[in-house]
Amino acid sequence: MDLMGKIISLCKRRGFVYPGSEIYGGLANTWDYGPLGAELKNNLKKEWWKNFVQKKAEIYGLDGGILLNPRIWEASGHVQDFIDILVECLNCHKRFRLDHLKDVKKCPECEGALSEPKKFVPMFKTFIGSVEDTASVAFLRPETAQAIFVNFKNIIDSFHPKLPFGIAQVGKAFRNEITLGNFIFRSLEFEQMEIEYFIHEENWEKDFEEWKKAMEDYIVNLGVKRENLSWRRHEDNELSHYSKRTEDLEFKFPFGLRELYGLAYRTDFDLKTHAKHSGQELSYKDANTNESFVPHVIEPSMGVERTFLAILVDAYEEEDLGEKGTRTVLRLNPKIAPYKAAVFPLVANKEEIVGKAKEIFNMLILSFPVAFDDRGNIGKRYFSQDEIGTPWCVTVDYQTLEDDTVTVRDRDTTNQERIPIDKLVERFQNNLK
Ligand code: GAP
Repeated sequence: MDLMGKIISLCKRRGFVYPGSEIYGGLANTWDYGPLGAELKNNLKKEWWKNFVQKKAEIYGLDGGILLNPRIWEASGHVQDFIDILVECLNCHKRFRLDHLKDVKKCPECEGALSEPKKFVPMFKTFIGSVEDTASVAFLRPETAQAIFVNFKNIIDSFHPKLPFGIAQVGKAFRNEITLGNFIFRSLEFEQMEIEYFIHEENWEKDFEEWKKAMEDYIVNLGVKRENLSWRRHEDNELSHYSKRTEDLEFKFPFGLRELYGLAYRTDFDLKTHAKHSGQELSYKDANTNESFVPHVIEPSMGVERTFLAILVDAYEEEDLGEKGTRTVLRLNPKIAPYKAAVFPLVANKEEIVGKAKEIFNMLILSFPVAFDDRGNIGKRYFSQDEIGTPWCVTVDYQTLEDDTVTVRDRDTTNQERIPIDKLVERFQNNLK
């Protein structure tokens, strides 16, 4: 099995990611996140929020709506310009994005002839109210960014920020993707972590470079290897309608070098177009000079699911243990690991040992997520936790009953250490810093 196959299988087996609507035969390009996947995803988002919002005085958090006034998508240019050019196979009737095809004449699946290219708007349409007429058409947002632009004035009025400042949002986005997903890499429903960073126009190149570093550092700090990342600048004919410069941070996925994140210099396009269409003034007044102007924008846009996948790819390791077989380890940064520790009673049939293990579990779970396992032999339990990335395993044994110490086994080194029970929380919390 190749690496992607192994990761997909582990995700399903161990409760990270399940195929969407599975008992009904599935729904292409949709996924459900199981208990461990939900935990990992939340941890990625929490780290992002801490790093880019809570630790930055000049960045304001927002939780805008998924449904926005449909006029917003006309003003933003999405209705006219957010389009895919599709071709359909005249034989098998599968659809493909023209820009994803190597040979634009032949179907990549059945070699049938392809139709003339057609425009396709990948925004999901829905209806507000009970009558499905055009007056009530709305769209599920294809990016979180627009809720930020339309709240620019609210943030200025409530907080009076000084330039440069940013507005950040984490949330779902929806795109009617028709091409193959590569597991969670491309899905219909996904989450974005976006910032619109409002700046003085003359600073855009400097700010753009600073954001490149910040985006890269975020994911490297979470465990992705820097050597697997590289930047690619969009050619002029690739640029989105709003962008003067876009660079993609690409990651070496097992299926090739692909976009992990995007960084765009959106100029003053969005604020100006929303000012024009809404009739509201969307400008910034410099308190020192009294000058009013429309700020420019740098936009770091980062996908949660692609972060999740890149982290799994770089964390997954199979260690050859010779006669003992192989050990699969997810070398996740403890900060994002679904469980920070697992507690095991050495034996499952000695009441005092099991009782003590439960006591320790109940103590640790007040501070972070912890697993409890009393099935099978200890070696198997260690391996089972290694595979889901649990950094530390705590074993309660006969000695624990005498001196209130436990063994703590480290996932990466497999070294074991005896630690007093009352020092466990402090020890793990220090390690997590
Ligand atoms: N606001 C700018 C914007 O949305 P984008 O390059 O279209 O730009 C930004 O999307 C990021 O969102 C991508 O770099 C990727 O991480 C994520 N993303 C986009 N489409 C996706 C999809 N269908 N499935 C999963 N993630 C996606």
